[in-house]
Amino acid sequence: MPRLKAVILVGGPGTRLQPLTDDTPKSVVPVLNKPFMEYTFAYLAQFGIEDIILTLSYLPGVIQDYFGDGSRYGVRLKYCFEKEPMGTAGAVKNTEAYLDSTFIVLNGDVFTDMDLNDMLALHRNREAMATISLSWVDDPGAFGVVETDETQRVKQFIEKPPAAEATTNWINAGIYILEPEVLKYVPADSHYMFERGLFPTLLDRGEFVYGYPFRGYWLDMGTPGQYFALNRDLLLEKARSPLVHGSGKDGIYSESDVTIHPSAAITAPVMIGGGCRISRGVSIKGPVVIGNNCVIEDDAVIEDAVLWSNVRIGAHAGLSHCIVGGNTGIEPHRQVVNCVVTSSQTAPLSQQS
Ligand code: GDD
Ligand code: MG
Repeated sequence: MPRLKAVILVGGPGTRLQPLTDDTPKSVVPVLNKPFMEYTFAYLAQFGIEDIILTLSYLPGVIQDYFGDGSRYGVRLKYCFEKEPMGTAGAVKNTEAYLDSTFIVLNGDVFTDMDLNDMLALHRNREAMATISLSWVDDPGAFGVVETDETQRVKQFIEKPPAAEATTNWINAGIYILEPEVLKYVPADSHYMFERGLFPTLLDRGEFVYGYPFRGYWLDMGTPGQYFALNRDLLLEKARSPLVHGSGKDGIYSESDVTIHPSAAITAPVMIGGGCRISRGVSIKGPVVIGNNCVIEDDAVIEDAVLWSNVRIGAHAGLSHCIVGGNTGIEPHRQVVNCVVTSSQTAPLSQQS
């Protein structure tokens, strides 16, 4: 049996994690100080999937320069570029030359521990043309809502329905197993979506489309609130990844070349990036992630926070429940609660989720 290839959707209009970044695609924003996509590579590699095609339309250079041929991450990467975003299914059509057997498609902003082998077993057992992974959420309106019958065959797929039309809480979790034949339904060189185009079309044609419901960890990290939750869940070991091993030294993960003043108090779980300096009397209460080359000045207090690289926290400043973007300074004595702070703006964090 040939090895499955995976296509990751990395382009499209919602590619940035605003207001945190204008120039970094969300697939490379730091999660526990590693680019998000590394977690997706590690997730796929666990299932022996090492041939990965990245579909790019926004800032392609940033991603290609960063990940190269993938060998540093134990995967083999190919890139397909779109001049204009071609939509989720259009982007996969663009990779058709690489796809000659059953393949996997992943939304580039999804984090999960779902068992792909189990999903593949259902796909094969039902002889499906398309199998859609399904996660249960409290509020389905922001997702594709997927209704199935008792054999898991999909009856209806409605993308982002008004509340009254959401007939179930099972939603499209953004991972599909597909047969290459589905691509004959996708027009070439056009903008076309799985969610509003291909899936409804396959259902209209009576093709075998199945849902694979699972109850494990699942999150779309595409908003600052969800991105924050992912960092915290990984530190608290509610979410698991092959990239996060054990619990560091008593839950304190620290790179080399970190200076911590003996009077600083650090409560796990905390991750501290390389080149950081933590000064006298500082208090850090996890879950906290601190990026590379950050400076935390005297008596600052940080709890429940994610700091990107090159952040300076002034003396006596206090941070609670917030994200601080890269290259940002927090003035001495400033108190920041429940916010996303960048070098140019401050926005509430909770409303971003
Ligand atoms: N290459 C490429 N080209 N990628 C695209 C394009 C495109 O034109 N449009 C979107 N994408 C990528 C995005 O970068 C992202 O990784 C993925 O497709 C999904 O797009 P989002 O913008 O994040 O969509 P969403 O989160 O609102 O909804 C989607 O995901 C939900 C699960 O998180 C839909 O698939 C929903 O049905 C689903 O429930
Ligand atoms: Mg998304």
